[in-house]
Amino acid sequence: MTNKLKAFSLFPAVFSFVIDNKLRRILENMDRKMIPMGVKPGMKVLEIGCGSGFVTEFLSNAVGDAGFVISIDVQENMIKKAKKKRAHLKNVEFLIQDVSDLNTVKDEAIDLAFCYYSFHEVSDKEKAVSELLRTLKHGGLLSIKEPKLRVKEKYVRSHKEFIAGKGFRFVESIKKCDFLGCYLKFVKD
Ligand SMILES: C[S@@+](CC[C@H](N)C(=O)[O-])C[C@H]1O[C@@H](n2cnc3c(N)ncnc32)[C@H](O)[C@@H]1O
Repeated sequence: MTNKLKAFSLFPAVFSFVIDNKLRRILENMDRKMIPMGVKPGMKVLEIGCGSGFVTEFLSNAVGDAGFVISIDVQENMIKKAKKKRAHLKNVEFLIQDVSDLNTVKDEAIDLAFCYYSFHEVSDKEKAVSELLRTLKHGGLLSIKEPKLRVKEKYVRSHKEFIAGKGFRFVESIKKCDFLGCYLKFVKD
């Protein structure tokens, strides 16, 4: 693996309280990010690396009753916490799953693949991108946000080049990144 596509270590489930708390709710203002990141009512969304489900709440609300969210995480303990904390979300299914092997997801079933602070941790990005291409509908979106404090701009740039070179069309970097992160958006033509 080249240095540019290194996988960062997994965010430990034992520290999930750091990314799932009231302060983040204020700082991140997630509701305002749903539209620029491509989320619409009625969509079927695959959330990659959901952690304990902080972002899942906002996705669930944004797709509404007509939509559905499949939220996956490779760490069993993250999914246990998410299931416990977000049992009230009726349009969400939490699964222990690696994005590099989406064996429970059919071909062309997903409108939007949503990676929030998770793509940099994916260990096999080659397989992950090929699974996302398989499971997204034509016209489906891949939307990625990375945390500025952890993932330097050069890595975000190399992820952009890598994904665009694997069959996705790059749509935009949401120009005005907030102070916490950078966005990339792609479409499967
Ligand atoms: C920094 S946490 C972010 C959690 C959540 N998206 C949030 O913003 O609160 C990244 C999560 O991605 C998960 N993850 C990393 N690699 C993964 C993979 N290959 N497949 C699925 N989940 C993965 C990690 O286990 C971790 O829970």
